Amino acid sequence: MQKSSDQADRAAKILARLRKFIETGDLEKKMVALDAVIHVAADLTLPQFKNTGIEIIFEIEDNLPKLLISDVQIQQVMVNLIKNACEAMMDTTPKLLQIIAVQDDDQHIKVGVIDTGKGLSEEDFATLYKPFSTDKQGGLGVGLSISRSIIANHDGKFWAERNAPQGACFYFTLPTA
Ligand SMILES: Nc1ncnc2c1ncn2[C@@H]1O[C@H](COP(=O)(O)OP(=O)(O)OP(=O)(O)O)[C@@H](O)[C@H]1O
Ligand SMILES: [Mg+2]
Repeated sequence: MQKSSDQADRAAKILARLRKFIETGDLEKKMVALDAVIHVAADLTLPQFKNTGIEIIFEIEDNLPKLLISDVQIQQVMVNLIKNACEAMMDTTPKLLQIIAVQDDDQHIKVGVIDTGKGLSEEDFATLYKPFSTDKQGGLGVGLSISRSIIANHDGKFWAERNAPQGACFYFTLPTA
């Protein structure tokens, strides 16, 4: 008991340090095209889910302005969202994954990862960003917590919604100016 409590303590400290690094670290932001970042993330993630019957639809608006972002970090956010979405659809049909990027208002682009998976319960909403809360074997339960920190560090918003009639939607915004 003592040992596992020590381990949990250690893991919590590592995560706190990691988040601090994300929030304060030198991000090396540069002007990049978001569609490229999204496609790299999809190419990194989707091969794992080959032959699972997931249908993927990209709706990325033409002529989106370049953004001042850390491409590696936004890629990391997208990898986690796409992976979460695919994992949530393993036991459900249909399996439809939608990845969107649109001009939201004058100063923001909105990115969405939308699935038809098992969806989000009230309890899920309460624990989504809580580190180490996971329902997956081998899951760390830190993906969303880190993703939200990364988006906050880019002065964007990050939120989840229910999809109708089934599944989950995760959205974030990034400023264009
Ligand atoms: N698209 C989704 N549909 C349904 N539940 C989801 C979805 N995305 C996340 N969740 C729920 O939120 C929990 C936390 O997600 P998070 O990405 O933070 O951690 P994880 O995927 O479990 O582990 P990892 O650290 O490897 O990402 C998941 O375990 C799952 O229960
Ligand atoms: Mg995850």
